[in-house]
Amino acid sequence: MSPDPAPHILVVDDDPGHLTALKTIIKSWGYRVDGVDDGAAAVERVRETPYDLVLMDVRMAHMSGLEALKRIRGYNPAIPVLIMTAYSSVATAVEALKAGAYDYLTKPLDYEVLKLGIERARDHSGLKSENQALKAELRAAFDLQNIVGKSPAMVELIDMVAQVAPSEATVLITGESGTGKELIARALHVNSGRRDKPFVVVNCAALTETLLESELFGHERGAFTGADRRREGRFMQAHQGTVFLDEIGEMSPSMQARLLRVIQEREIQRVGGTEVLEVDVRILAATHRDLAAEVAAGRFREDLFYRLNVVALKVPPLRARRDDIPLLAAHFLARYAARNRKAVRGFAPRAMDLLLRHGWPGNVRELENAVERAVILLAGDYVSAKELPLSITAAPGAAPAGDPPAAVPDGGRTLQDIERDAILATLQLTEGNKSKAAEKLGITRKTLYKKLKTYGEE
Ligand SMILES: Nc1ncnc2c1ncn2[C@@H]1O[C@H](COP(=O)(O)OP(=O)(O)OP(=O)(O)O)[C@@H](O)[C@H]1O
Ligand SMILES: [Mg+2]
Repeated sequence: MSPDPAPHILVVDDDPGHLTALKTIIKSWGYRVDGVDDGAAAVERVRETPYDLVLMDVRMAHMSGLEALKRIRGYNPAIPVLIMTAYSSVATAVEALKAGAYDYLTKPLDYEVLKLGIERARDHSGLKSENQALKAELRAAFDLQNIVGKSPAMVELIDMVAQVAPSEATVLITGESGTGKELIARALHVNSGRRDKPFVVVNCAALTETLLESELFGHERGAFTGADRRREGRFMQAHQGTVFLDEIGEMSPSMQARLLRVIQEREIQRVGGTEVLEVDVRILAATHRDLAAEVAAGRFREDLFYRLNVVALKVPPLRARRDDIPLLAAHFLARYAARNRKAVRGFAPRAMDLLLRHGWPGNVRELENAVERAVILLAGDYVSAKELPLSITAAPGAAPAGDPPAAVPDGGRTLQDIERDAILATLQLTEGNKSKAAEKLGITRKTLYKKLKTYGEE
C-alpha cells in the first residue's frame, strides 16, 4: 500500500486576506489545505471530503463558527476542530469547547502556536485512529463489497461497475425507484481516480428550469432578481470530481440542449455571464424512465441520449432477483440492530417467507425501511410476521409464477374462514380476553365484536 498522503486541513475564515495567508503558511508546513469563507460552505465540504482537521474562525458573517462547529460535529464527531477567536474572551472559548471544539487559539495568531496546535490535534492518538476508522467506514460505505447481491443479474452489474468505474466514461444508470441507482453512482465515483474530489448530486426533478440552470451553471451578480452575488454552479463545485444528475429524464428540452453543450465542449457559462469556464467533471446520470422510449416519443433529445448512454447500467428490480432478498434483509438487519443496540438473531421462517413473496414495488428502499421498522418494534430475538408492515403481510404480493399461493396451509378456504379461525385462536390464547385479542390482532375492540357477531361466535 502507498504511504498515507499528507494530512488534509480545511481552513474557514471570512476574511480573504487572512484565509490566503493561513493557507499559504499551513501548506508550507507540508499539509494539504483547502479554504472556504463561510460556515455553511465548511459544513458542505466536510460532508464531501474526509478532512483530518478543521481550523475555523468563530466569528463569521453568514453562519457563525459555533453553529458550523455543531453541524460538523453532528456529521462527523471525529474530526478535530480548532477554533480561532479574535476575542480572548473566555466565554466564547468555553462555549466552543463545550460544543466540541478540540481547542481554541486567539487572534492575532502566533504561527508557532498554530503549528503546535495542528500537530497536537493530529497526534492526539485517540482522535487520529477514530478518525481513520471513520474514513475507512465512509469509503467502505460505497465500496463494491457493500453492494449486496449474489443473483446473476447483480453479480454482472457489480462486475460492470468495477470495470467502468476507473474510466472517464459517462454512465447512464436506469432502474425503478429504490433499486440502488445512487448507490451504484457513488460506487462508480469511489472506485475512480476522482475519489478524493467532490461527488455532487443534482436532482433534476426537484428544481424549476430556471433554478436548475443556475444551480448547475452558477450565475453572475444581478443575473436575476435576488442574485445579489456571483455564485458558482454545481459543475464548478465538482471540479475534478463527479456530477451525478439524478432524474435526468425530467430535464426540459432547453436544459437538455445546454447539458449537451457541456458534455461536448467541456465548457460552461454562468447565467447572465459571458465568461467561458472550463469544466473538468465526470458525468453520471440516472432515471427511472426508459430513456430510449422517451427519445422515441420525442421527449428526450436523441443526441444527448447517445452521449449519456456511453455505458448503460440497468439495476434490476428486487422482484426480478429474489435470491438477493435474504442477503439484503440480513444486511439491513445487522445494520439496524447495531444502530439500535438490539441483539436480533434473524428472521422467523414465516417472516422470511413473506419477504420472499412480496412484490416490492419500492424495491430495496422498501425492504430497508421494513427491516428498520421491524428492528425498532422487535422485543424478541427473531423478526416475526408481527413486526412486518401490513403492506407486506396483508397483500398476496407478486409471487413468482408457479408457486403455491402464499401460506395457506390447506388451500381452498375463504378469507372469512381464515379470519374466523385467526380470531378464535387468538381468543383462546388470551383466554377469552377480548381487549387483549383485539390488540394482538391489530383491530379495535369494536371491530372484534362486530366480527364475532357476523360469525355467530359471540
Ligand atoms: N444492492 C444493495 N446493497 C445494499 N444496499 C442497497 C442496495 N441497493 C440499494 N441499497 C440501499 O437502498 C436504499 C435505496 O437505494 P438508492 O437511494 O441508491 O436507490 P435509487 O435507485 O437511487 O432510488 P430513487 O429512484 O428512489 O432515487 C439506499 O439506502 C441504499 O443504500
Ligand atoms: Mg436516487
